[in-house]
Amino acid sequence: MRSSAELIRAEEPVLAHNYHPLPVVVARAEGAWVEDVEGRRYLDMLAGYSALNFGHRHPALIEAAHRQLDQLTLTSRAFHNDRLAAFAESVAALTGLDMVLPMNTGAEAVESAVKVARKWAYEVKGVPADRATIVVAADNFHGRTTTIVSFSTDESARAGFGPFTPGFRVVPYNDLAALEAAIDETTAAVLIEPIQGEAGVVIPDDGYLRGVRELTARTGCLFIADEIQSGLGRTGRTLAVEHEDVVPDVVLLGKALGGGIVPVSAVVARREVLQVLRPGEHGSTFGGNPLAAAVGSAVVELLETGEFQRRAQEAGVLLRDGLSALVGKGVRGFRARGLWAGVDIDPAIGTGREISESLMREGILVKDTHGSTIRLAPPLTITNEDLRMALSTLETVLRTGSL
Ligand SMILES: Cc1ncc(COP(=O)(O)O)c(C=O)c1O
Repeated sequence: MRSSAELIRAEEPVLAHNYHPLPVVVARAEGAWVEDVEGRRYLDMLAGYSALNFGHRHPALIEAAHRQLDQLTLTSRAFHNDRLAAFAESVAALTGLDMVLPMNTGAEAVESAVKVARKWAYEVKGVPADRATIVVAADNFHGRTTTIVSFSTDESARAGFGPFTPGFRVVPYNDLAALEAAIDETTAAVLIEPIQGEAGVVIPDDGYLRGVRELTARTGCLFIADEIQSGLGRTGRTLAVEHEDVVPDVVLLGKALGGGIVPVSAVVARREVLQVLRPGEHGSTFGGNPLAAAVGSAVVELLETGEFQRRAQEAGVLLRDGLSALVGKGVRGFRARGLWAGVDIDPAIGTGREISESLMREGILVKDTHGSTIRLAPPLTITNEDLRMALSTLETVLRTGSL
């Protein structure tokens, strides 16, 4: 058996260097805990960027996957499969929308929504051919395809990848006046994250999401909410837009929809929007496969209990209180909603990366973003005791500067 150090070295010549992972090699996991090759245990305070909202290997999800593995795994959409109708019904009901376009990764859901919004603009709104625009927010993160990086404002995501897809307008996030000024008769949609995750858990002012809803309704363009990271319980509600009682025209889901087992994403929308797609115009070999549908349906069943949303709210209070106590003691400030926080570390103490490495040595896994910010997004199943332990370890690392 190769050691962690050997496995990390073995990756170097054969694996593309598009990530800079923390030097931990995970081999097993259960709930909120993972174990490395040598048997060291770590508390997972990142949860696969919210793909593991229900923890690692949640028994109900593992059971649903096992059951499906024994029946049928893949058909392609050339045929129907007996799991897809229930999956689409449950996702539509969960979001309060009408129709579902099943895909696999988050980026695919975003790409698909861009195509659907453009087609809707031409067929329903009457925008002249090839003139449709989509308004997005600065500092967005929606994925990594060529079209998606075309409207990123992060130079490291774009440099070297041009030429870019036209048809996007970028406005500052959380600025309704700028949004209104960018919308015109060519606008197919406004695409935003209800909370900007990769940007450092940036939460807009109260009223922003309601404002986006009113503005898009008034000007006759679609509101697309990318809930791929913010959705499915993370913020204490099923969707982050629910904090402002808003129903977008299109909701994008991913990450946790696959229960931490398989990639499952979806474009969920009003009928008027998704009905623009006709056979042959869009697709995916794996989208809506029976294994994904079975796991996705089990995920929706978990969310229907309300237990995970409640847990995110309750534990979220603990997280907020714990972080408040650290402000001025190594923490410059933080933003939190539910079990999700972006924590700005005093740069005098260390970079986000250095703090993440120190926490790793103390048995806590987090991920830095943008300089001195670390992101906390533990599984929603985390116990109060484990959460307190993570906060007190953070306190120790910041106090002792044990870098
Ligand atoms: C808001 C948002 N949209 C889209 C994506 C892309 O998802 P994926 O990595 O599955 O393509 C992410 C990933 O972090 C995300 O946070």
